Amino acid sequence: MTNSAVQEEFLRSFHALRPAVTAEAFGRGRGPDGRSSYELLRDRVTGHRRVLDLGCGDGLLLELLARDDGRELAGVDLSPRSLALARRRPALRAARLHTGRAQELPFAEGSFDACVSHLALMLMGDIEQVAAEVARVLVPGGVLACVVGGGAVGGEAYERFVRLLRRAGEENPARIPALGDKRVRSREGLDEVLRPVGFGGVEWETVPIDIGGTLEQVWESMSGLYDLAPMAEQAVARLRQDFLAEVADLVTPDGIVPCGFKVHLASARLARAV
Ligand SMILES: C[S@@+](CC[C@H](N)C(=O)[O-])C[C@H]1O[C@@H](n2cnc3c(N)ncnc32)[C@H](O)[C@@H]1O
Repeated sequence: MTNSAVQEEFLRSFHALRPAVTAEAFGRGRGPDGRSSYELLRDRVTGHRRVLDLGCGDGLLLELLARDDGRELAGVDLSPRSLALARRRPALRAARLHTGRAQELPFAEGSFDACVSHLALMLMGDIEQVAAEVARVLVPGGVLACVVGGGAVGGEAYERFVRLLRRAGEENPARIPALGDKRVRSREGLDEVLRPVGFGGVEWETVPIDIGGTLEQVWESMSGLYDLAPMAEQAVARLRQDFLAEVADLVTPDGIVPCGFKVHLASARLARAV
């Protein structure tokens, strides 16, 4: 199997068990102005009528996009289970939702005015091929806008969780396959991927998102990280215990644990078709 095939098989199996894990955590997330990372991304493509979501998962972002009248929406995802949830959303009855790979989009040239991707582009292998496909299905002047993960905000629950996870990883040698292409996680890297297929410069903004909630909600989000997948049940139970103890001092009087996670909001315009 190629590296991409191994990565994709891992993602498919993972999301068969946790098909809506990202939306559950980031749906309640809030940035400094009160918008979630999905809403920030939606607002990057205001006025674009035909929009494709790459790695659309259970369709939360598409549902937000569907609130604007006259939109034609499409989504592609590797996970049949996640797409089954997307298809259950009444707002997405007319959307074209395909099980498949972003590297082989089942759409004609120039089918979309914008392409969005929330916490998914950074997981994709063969990223040059994804970029070429996005450039092919966008109209010239079309926009690619995405949210990619940017790590912990200092002093909060996610940072503490990462520390515990690293320690647990030293005791549990099983690893998940390396996912995606790390260039997507920086402005320069994304620029390097997108320019050869005709995109202009990448706009890049880093925003802290608080995905805090009750202790149980926050643990549920942390336990949904891909890295926990190969861990034995006992090791996960220990990690949970350690995590709950580690963040006890962060709980506010109304029972909420702040959990800061940085995201990068990136966009680029297709200057020409190549
Ligand atoms: C972290 S989840 C995010 C899901 C959704 N965008 C959200 O934010 O709620 C990443 C999604 O990308 C999908 N994905 C990863 N690589 C893909 C690829 N090459 N083609 C299509 N989908 C892919 C996964 O199946 C998964 O549903």
